[in-house]
Amino acid sequence: MPKLFEQIFENNKKWVKDTLDRDPEFFKDLALGQTPPILWIGCSDSRVPANEITGTKPGEIFVHRNIANMVIHTDMSMLSVLDYAVNVLNVSHVIVCGHYGCGGVITAMGSTQVGIIDNWLRHIKDVYRLHQKELDAIKDEKKRADRFVELNVIEQVFDLSKTSIVQNAWSNGKPLFVHGLVYDIGNGI
Ligand code: CO
Repeated sequence: MPKLFEQIFENNKKWVKDTLDRDPEFFKDLALGQTPPILWIGCSDSRVPANEITGTKPGEIFVHRNIANMVIHTDMSMLSVLDYAVNVLNVSHVIVCGHYGCGGVITAMGSTQVGIIDNWLRHIKDVYRLHQKELDAIKDEKKRADRFVELNVIEQVFDLSKTSIVQNAWSNGKPLFVHGLVYDIGNGI
């Protein structure tokens, strides 16, 4: 087995031991079920792990990740996660978290073909078109990309709010809050 692969099993054993040292009932309690108060919709980027950066434990955040943290109305995976989180787990917060330096967003700013992902990035390009005036006025490429990341999160929060799942939750008086956040991989905040 390659070294890294062996290593993750070793890491797992150590994590189980450390966790049980702190709380002998940890896994027994988790096995009973989950009641996470938060749904996290984030980027697949390996540098943005929901639990680590928020200091939360297993059981505390329900997670959906895709390239560039998109909320797309035909994405059955995202819709299923959202529906389950809102209507079965009764989460009270949904977070869309983008991040500066997002490869998906940066690629969507250019015109090179990458592959299948081009079809996914098409949705981000629509966000660019919506905000083209503001974005084109930013001459510095990094600053423009950073603002695009922020605008993309704002648009995804709108799209999230417009899903029938969130609309029905609100019209039924469910206390459901939606949030847009941007994470900086350069400083961890
Ligand atoms: Co990203």
